[in-house]
This record gives sequence, structure tokens and C-alpha cells, in this order.
Amino acid sequence: MIRSLVKGTGSALPKKIVTNDDLAQRVDTSDEWIRERTGIQQRHIAEEGETTSSLAIDASRRALDAAGMAASEIDLIVLATATPDQTFPATATKVQAALGCRPIPAFDLAAVCSGFVYAVSVADGMIRSGQAKTALVIGAETFSRILDWEDRATCVLFGDGAGAIVLQGAEVAEDGPGILASRLHSDGEHCEMLYVDGGPSTTGTVGKVRMKGREVFRHAVVNLAEVLREVLDAAGVEAGEIDWVVPHQANARILDATARKLGLPPEKVVVTVDRHANTSAASVPLALDLAVRDGRIKPGNLVMLEAMGGGFTWGASLLRM
Ligand code: ACO
Repeated sequence: MIRSLVKGTGSALPKKIVTNDDLAQRVDTSDEWIRERTGIQQRHIAEEGETTSSLAIDASRRALDAAGMAASEIDLIVLATATPDQTFPATATKVQAALGCRPIPAFDLAAVCSGFVYAVSVADGMIRSGQAKTALVIGAETFSRILDWEDRATCVLFGDGAGAIVLQGAEVAEDGPGILASRLHSDGEHCEMLYVDGGPSTTGTVGKVRMKGREVFRHAVVNLAEVLREVLDAAGVEAGEIDWVVPHQANARILDATARKLGLPPEKVVVTVDRHANTSAASVPLALDLAVRDGRIKPGNLVMLEAMGGGFTWGASLLRM
């Protein structure tokens, strides 16, 4: 059977680090409140000149290096973001130009924090249907540019960054590597729980992030537990067989609660929310890259990617490295 194999991972973070104490100088908050409620200690924030595309390009180059591949081998780019450089053209086309790829399909995908899991599923489908052989799948964000820096309930939660993977189709045995199953969902009934209060066809502005945090939290735990079960059933795998969960890094308490619902020990969850905060579509590939590079995730490991975000959108993908 043809499966999509992860051939390399890469990531990039802005140089500037902003601590909770730094934020406490700006809004009425404290290091203690932020750590206790979210697990966040610091986040990276893009400075002038650092953009979603520049972070995406750096992460992509590292993923290609790790895969030992030239950009000319890529025949598809899918970039998940809610903070594109411009409304159009797609940020993916900037990556295509900067890497010097051939005139291959390159497009952005908007599913906010679930964007990377959506992008993996779309690229996997295109590879398995024969439309592409080798895909660059990217999650990249500069959420700092759409935060209301006077709203303490949201501005403390997010950070900037990018992560990328190279996926390549190959004929493998049933127990071989590659993406085993993915499931995606959305429910627009809840769009007012987490949204941006602007856009080209409404206000004509970019807008700022607005969120009902408690409601988001409640839905996240239920939806994620359900989709994880669905993916495990689709792949015929027991939760206990998972080596690593690489979740969207929204909040340490959501990570704990989701792992508990699956009966997985917290040691199997890759956590970066303390250092990166919530980087939306970038958080899963950033965490994946970190755990691959520090040697925790090894070839043959069973890895679950999962995310939930504005829309609501949510999804999960199970793969063998
Ligand atoms: N510093 C200090 N106090 C704060 C801050 C802050 N940064 N933010 C809010 N508060 C105050 C509120 O004003 C409120 O005060 P009040 O009781 O006097 O009115 C109090 O803290 C409690 O506020 P809640 O919003 O009820 O606090 P809660 O315990 O729910 O924690 C949080 C808030 C951390 C946002 C939590 O709801 C959460 O993590 N939700 C998930 C949201 C999320 O992760 N969104 C990311 C995008 S979606 C996703 O990625 C899954």
C-alpha cells in the first residue's frame, strides 16, 4: 500500500523572548496567574522583518535538510495559517518562490489551531491519490500581530513560530511507517467562542482575537477525546500502543485532561506550551520537530498528532515514524 512517510522535520522561532513578567508590565496579570492557569512561562514574539513567511521558509529549509532533500524534489506545498503575510497571495507561494521550487501547487489552508493537522490530512490524501509524491507541510503563525495587547485574557496565551515536515509517498508493508489514519471535524455553531473581529469582507480590517476561554476549554477536552478514539478505531490501534502524543499546545491543563481521558501517562505527551505558548497552527509541527531532534521520538514510534481551534475545528492524525 502507498503511505505518506515523514522524511524530515524542521522549525523556526523568532529571536525575541517575552516572559510572563514582561507581560505583567503591560497588562494587569502576573507570572503566577499565567503559569497556574496555562503552564506558559514565556513565548517568542516576531519583531519587525520577521513574518509568517520568513518563519515558514526557515522551518522548511530545516525540514528539507533533515530529509536530505533538495527543494526541487518537492511537488506540493500546503501551509496552514490564520496569519498570512497578506490576504493574498497565499503565503505558501512565497515559500515556493524562496525555496526555488518548480511551479508546483502551493496553497494556504485556514483551520486556525487545527490547521497543521488539516494540512497533513490534505497532503496525505493528495499523495495517496497520486496527485503529489513529496509534500512540504507547514504550520506558521505570527499571532502576535492579531492580539489585542490590552486584553489580558488573550494576549498572555499566544506566541509566534513555524514548523514543517516533508511527507513522501512510498510503498510500505501493513506494519510499516507512514500516516495510518486521520479524522477532521468542524462545528461553526461555536464560531463566536473564538474568532477575530475583522476581515476583508466584513470590517475591511484585520481584526483582533476574541475568546470565551472557559467555553473553549470545555469543548476542547470533549472534542479531542472523541476524535482521538475515532482515529485509534480507524487504525485498529489501542491507546496503550501510542509512544508519543504531540498535541496542539493551547494550555497545559487541556493537555493533561486529554491524556487522562485516553488513559495515557503525562510522560507520553510532548509539551512545549511552557516555552512557546500557543502558536496556533505552528504548535504541533514545532513540538514534533523538538521531540524528533532531542531523540525522544524515534523511527518506528507510533505518534498521535491532535489539535482543536477556532471554528470550532478539530482533528487528529496517527502515524508511525
Ligand atoms: N491575568 C490575571 N487574571 C486574568 C487573566 C490574566 N492574564 N485573564 C483573565 N483573568 C481573570 C478574569 O478576568 C477573571 O476574573 P474575575 O473572576 O474577576 O472576572 C478570572 O481571571 C477568571 O477568568 P476565567 O476566564 O474564568 O479563567 P479560567 O480559569 O477559565 O482560565 C483560560 C482562563 C486560561 C483562558 C482558560 O479558560 C483556558 O485555557 N481556556 C482555553 C482557551 C485556549 O486555550 N484558547 C486557545 C485557542 S483554542 C485552542 O487552542 C484550543
